[in-house]
Amino acid sequence: MSPRTVGVRDESARTRAVRAALGREGFATLADVDLAGFDALVDALGGTALATTVRLSSDVRSYLCSPGAIPLHADDPRVPLIAWRCERQDDVDGASLLVDLRAIIEGMTRVDRELLAKIRLRGGRMSGEAHIYEPRSGRCFWAPWLTHDAEGTALEALERLRAEIERAPVTRIRLAPGDVLVVDNRRVLHGRHAVSPESLRHLERRWIGPLESWPR
Ligand SMILES: [Fe+2]
Repeated sequence: MSPRTVGVRDESARTRAVRAALGREGFATLADVDLAGFDALVDALGGTALATTVRLSSDVRSYLCSPGAIPLHADDPRVPLIAWRCERQDDVDGASLLVDLRAIIEGMTRVDRELLAKIRLRGGRMSGEAHIYEPRSGRCFWAPWLTHDAEGTALEALERLRAEIERAPVTRIRLAPGDVLVVDNRRVLHGRHAVSPESLRHLERRWIGPLESWPR
């Protein structure tokens, strides 16, 4: 586990520690959380907007249920926080890969940030469209499979962003059963490497609400 693991048992203290870690680093990890504790944490952070079982399935054609690598991305931009509890880990890997997108964008030039703030992404399962960067709030959004409306200098800024994401430092968190990971979905991207088609990796995922419109 990451050395950042929040190790507080008291529920309200634990929620505060998770919020503090989210503010500091954009994610938080906890060890030995039972399902009731997971539900309590999710409720304290804003409540369940969507509950999903993340497990390989040949019936469902989505990244979530496929063994192939999942590229770094954010989930639906209306979702403030995502929490996962590990039920069973992959035998070989299955680690969650995290990259701080906000740190990348805020490390780019002001001109690039202004260009990124105008680019809209659309497609996938997302209804409507969303900007990559919202300067007032610092909120960020990215998924490489979406289409965009960038051209000219904006397209060049977008290509620089792609390159920065490729070479950004990756935090690797391999959850064990009972471990929980909470991520700020408007700051930190998540993904994973490929796993075996026979992998029994099983995470319980919660989109934590309330869902917020985008852009604000
Ligand atoms: Fe995702």
